[in-house]
Amino acid sequence: MTVLGIESSCDETSAAVVTSDGEIRSLVVASQSEIHARYHGVVPEVASRAHVEQILPVVRQALRESQSPRDAIDAVAVTNRPGLSGSLAVGVSFAKGWSLATGIPLVTVDHMAAHAYAARLASREDPLPYPYLVLLVSGGHTMLAQSVAPEELHVLGTTIDDACGEAYDKVSAFLELGYPGGPAIDRLAASGDHRAYTFPTPRPGSRAGRYDLSYSGLKTAVVYQREKFWNQSYPQTRENIAAAFQHRAISMLMERLRLAMADTGIPRVAVGGGVAANSLLRRELEQLAMEDPAYRVVLPPPLLCLDNAAMVAGLGAQAFAARGGDDLSVGVSARVSEFRGSGLSPRR
Ligand code: KG4
Ligand code: ZN
Repeated sequence: MTVLGIESSCDETSAAVVTSDGEIRSLVVASQSEIHARYHGVVPEVASRAHVEQILPVVRQALRESQSPRDAIDAVAVTNRPGLSGSLAVGVSFAKGWSLATGIPLVTVDHMAAHAYAARLASREDPLPYPYLVLLVSGGHTMLAQSVAPEELHVLGTTIDDACGEAYDKVSAFLELGYPGGPAIDRLAASGDHRAYTFPTPRPGSRAGRYDLSYSGLKTAVVYQREKFWNQSYPQTRENIAAAFQHRAISMLMERLRLAMADTGIPRVAVGGGVAANSLLRRELEQLAMEDPAYRVVLPPPLLCLDNAAMVAGLGAQAFAARGGDDLSVGVSARVSEFRGSGLSPRR
């Protein structure tokens, strides 16, 4: 089976053609980050308009590069949740129109499940077996889940305030490093010493779950209360601030992940989302993989970690095979789905 995938949930317009055995025949991503840079973040209204302009050329290019004739496409898959409503509506409306014009069925997928599925595409030669734990970290989401089947995620924990990437972007704006902030802080941190500041480890509070995270306290500590956490034997440089922030931001993720591995006994781990490109997180995960021969860690290449349509097409192929297509009256949803088991996560 061959599927055309479309992704437009945030600020990337992407299309891809992927087969059900995970071969990526084409992948085109048009990023809007330059457009949003002047606002230090994604402006929803601006994002929707850019999707409207980009979607047709991006889909055409993906179809052309895949060298698949249109009648070789079995389904069109599109992200319809969660994300920015206006952005989602552009991709979903386009996919519906394409489906109506071609008679090729439509299948909608969840963006978080698609991020989790990217690990299956990345491990195609030796597919990562289910269940696996997956850390999904970007500018819009921070989630630790157990991936049980292509469309089934058991959410273990999420951020209770800011997303991890959002904290990177805000600290970057404070340090005047531009947008997106993650890559800039990552680069600057390489020449800093994290011991210069001991930023606090936020406790999400008694009502939060065992695996929940919080980033707003860390952001506030960096921007407004640095002096309080400064170790005076080190100079107060931007490099040192970046290194100390990054050290704390990533160690929070690794702590929750290790906790979930111990609790569930699942030794398989995957990552997704823009922050999965972070050099410290990747180093920590590579180190984790070496700790025990039973551990297996899949770090998809950055293109498959960022928002992309290959993960949507790949998951769409599995979804279509399992449950067929969706009705053309299907809508969009901005909210994260209530995945099965999400209410069952262990509580503190
Ligand atoms: O997945 P993505 O492209 O878009 C969504 O937010 O859905 O992720 C973008 C986020 C931004 O917040 C960016 O600052 C962060 O990922 N990011 C990084 C790195 N590269 C991108 N954060 C930390 N370190 C990086 N190397
Ligand atoms: Zn995403």
